Amino acid sequence: MDYRQYIAEKIPVDGVSAQEIAQLLSVPPDPAMGDYALPCFKFAKTMRKSPVAIAQEFAAAISPDDVIAEVTALNGYLNFKVNKAGLAKDVLARILSEGERYGSSDMGGGKVVCIDYSSVNIAKPFHIGHLSTTVIGGALYRIFNFLGYRAVGINHLGDYGTQFGKLIAAYKKWGDKERVQQGGIHAINELYVRFNNEADEAMEAEAREYFRLIESGDKEANELFDWFKSLTLAYVQTIYDRLHITFDSYAGERFYTDKMAPVVEELQEKHLLKESEGAQIVDLEPYGMPPALILRSDGASLYLTRDLAAAIYRHETYHFAKCLYVVAYQQNLHFKQLFKVLELMGRDWAKDMVHVAYGMVSLEDGAMSTRKGKVVWLEDVLSRCVEKARAVLEEKNPSLENKDDVAELVGVGAVAFGALCNNKIKDITFSYDRALNFDGETSVYLQYTCARASSVLAKAQAEGIACGVPDLTPCAAEAELLKQLAAFPKAVEQAAEKYEPSLISRCLLDTAKLFNKFYLECKIMQAEGDVRAFRLALTQATRTVLKNGLALLGIGVPEKM
Ligand code: ARG
Repeated sequence: MDYRQYIAEKIPVDGVSAQEIAQLLSVPPDPAMGDYALPCFKFAKTMRKSPVAIAQEFAAAISPDDVIAEVTALNGYLNFKVNKAGLAKDVLARILSEGERYGSSDMGGGKVVCIDYSSVNIAKPFHIGHLSTTVIGGALYRIFNFLGYRAVGINHLGDYGTQFGKLIAAYKKWGDKERVQQGGIHAINELYVRFNNEADEAMEAEAREYFRLIESGDKEANELFDWFKSLTLAYVQTIYDRLHITFDSYAGERFYTDKMAPVVEELQEKHLLKESEGAQIVDLEPYGMPPALILRSDGASLYLTRDLAAAIYRHETYHFAKCLYVVAYQQNLHFKQLFKVLELMGRDWAKDMVHVAYGMVSLEDGAMSTRKGKVVWLEDVLSRCVEKARAVLEEKNPSLENKDDVAELVGVGAVAFGALCNNKIKDITFSYDRALNFDGETSVYLQYTCARASSVLAKAQAEGIACGVPDLTPCAAEAELLKQLAAFPKAVEQAAEKYEPSLISRCLLDTAKLFNKFYLECKIMQAEGDVRAFRLALTQATRTVLKNGLALLGIGVPEKM
């Protein structure tokens, strides 16, 4: 049963749908006030009455029934208490029967959502700066699929540009096949850094020539380029595997090489192109933006040009309902320009494109982040966190089996959660110790709570005690936990609506807190009969919610910890 919907249908307001009212229902901070509250301020204008009067009028009109136990008006709010026994049975039965589908829905109706995330650069380090785009994008991908959309994960590879000419020049001069094959991305990156430090004018000229050769389809130049690309992709795949990240397309910037000319033509036909110092631009001054550079004076395309072609290609190929770009806020202007140019081209679907911007992640641990000017590779952060997780586990639970496997789930999860637990636009400083705190607002805390639930359930199973959903009025701790469990589907929905996976993180942290309170206050295995069966059901439901939520975030759960 959907309590919000049920309550909403009892409140007829002209011109406001039950769905809108359901959206307005909030959960009061103090459970003593009620389980749901409706602020009546919104209706004051249409109903031409004060919120206080409206709340009183509604309260008088609604009579309690099987579902609604009590309705009261207070300071312009309408407070509802729902029938706890009914709520308990309903919520529990639903979670137990839906299991790993609990929280999912078909609200998406198969509509396509393209999500551009991670979008790594070939031959460049996969560094800490790519953490957020990768894990936030990956989470959104799973969340949209869970809600019945068809998500298309796109890794818009940075595989176009003069740097590849430089790389080939450097390889030709200093490279060694064996070494590059062995060292992979690290060896490639070294060559690139060396070029930037040491190249003279002659080498620069060579680099330009190699770039031209790649562009003109020269066999050797392209073979080298493809080799560098495959080494980079093999490397990033190892990180994607650890973070549980997948893609449906790796069409990167290069893929649009032959798809830009028609875009430029269209811009020309629509009189949107202007010449400026030899370059071709779209004037965006009327919209308070600097000009969008489409072609450089030497005719070369730009990042923006390729994004224009990519957007059009995606729309034609996938017929998306939404196209998301999970990219750092530093590129705000780029996406504003991109969307504006598409709009000027008459693509009305430009309104369906969203820049999902996020803040910066830096490391608290300065010692490691510098390494003399070098960037922090994400791989190193993962390994370090796993190592630390291993030490923490060793200390907490020396007899734990499979410590390495558990440490991997805990350590990698902690890094991912670092980028998933706060409002995404916030800049954050990652601290290993904070992220691995068992009692903090951490993924470890969630995993640990889950393992605690698992251990109770395993014990019950070993003793042949089943869980059940009897008719029973829950105590305060149980009721609060139940209400929180019931809120999970809404949190998933809102995470999708706001492109904010942290709403799921928040919901899970609240769930874990209330479970632990319940665990301390209510005996589970020492209880008897119906009460024990009910508490076991509550324990199982909690584990389901935590597991489902963590799975959406891409974080695994060990059976024991
Ligand atoms: N490779 C780019 C970078 O590292 C991000 C690409 C984002 N996606 C896009 N369609 N522009 O900055």
